Amino acid sequence: MSVRRRRLWGAGAACATVCTLLTGFVSPVAHALASPPDAARHITSAATSSASLLDLVTLRPLAVLREPGQTAAIIGHRGDSAAAPENTMAAFELTTSVGAEYFEVDIRMSKDGVPVVMHDSTVDRTTDGTGAVADLTIAELEALDAGSWFDESHAGARIPALDDVLALVAGPHRTDVVIEYKGRWTKAGVRATIEMIDHAGLENRVIAQSFSEKTVAQLRKAAPDLVVGWLTHALDAQTISTARQIGADAVNPAVASARAVALAHDAGLGVFVWTHDADADWEELTAMGVDGIVTNRPDALQAWSHQRSADRRRPQGGARGLQF
Ligand code: G3P
Ligand code: CA
Repeated sequence: MSVRRRRLWGAGAACATVCTLLTGFVSPVAHALASPPDAARHITSAATSSASLLDLVTLRPLAVLREPGQTAAIIGHRGDSAAAPENTMAAFELTTSVGAEYFEVDIRMSKDGVPVVMHDSTVDRTTDGTGAVADLTIAELEALDAGSWFDESHAGARIPALDDVLALVAGPHRTDVVIEYKGRWTKAGVRATIEMIDHAGLENRVIAQSFSEKTVAQLRKAAPDLVVGWLTHALDAQTISTARQIGADAVNPAVASARAVALAHDAGLGVFVWTHDADADWEELTAMGVDGIVTNRPDALQAWSHQRSADRRRPQGGARGLQF
């Protein structure tokens, strides 16, 4: 389910709700707008039942959430990071080529205020340089080799800037992007990234996420229509409640349970779980109805997912016996 389709449906459903309140009936147009685009589960914001009319007009877009057993979106963790150096254009391009719904990137601010793609706070692990990202200019960062540490065949790979990533997403394929804000972000820094996303025309193709509650709240404020996720380790009543308080659309934990996913969905929150690379985990998470699975092996998850769909289409039943 793309974010764009989700938002379209959300706007229609909000319109239908307001129409109903104002007129006492659901107009056919409003009803058609509110009709779900597929068999996924449709959850209105928890505010719906008790909200004032003003609240209803300003409702967050409604979520279209998976049912248990329904195929989850595939998110390539730092790109296809099993096959190419993490957080490089090569890793992102590989993720788009397997047809994953999203690739995930980690961003930080350079010394001279350019958002760049880097997981760690320093460049030491994944480049031939040393030092903190925040102490290096964009020119210094772009001069580093971000590929040789992974494999000599990737020698010369560069640290991408956020702009490079947005240009890729705006290209001819259909893979969207999950942008994780690492480290500390100022309001101005967050606003600058939102302007870049808007300028690229990608506000409907980005999920912004962070472990920082403060950054999630800043993102929500700076971009009321952007899909925003809060990263956690656990998924439980407490994290679900906090996610709602800080204005998140999704709560994205490392581990989940069927009950917790249902609770999050009932609260109108999506659930994107990180980071799982084994078939057994994919099976379990899909059975729970999580909305997305973050993986270092997007190609393998895509193949697993296709196989699972094919198996489910195949007629069930035991061995054919003689009919009398
Ligand atoms: O998408 C979530 C995941 O990327 C969070 O963990 O450390 O890999 O950024 P980390
Ligand atoms: Ca990340």
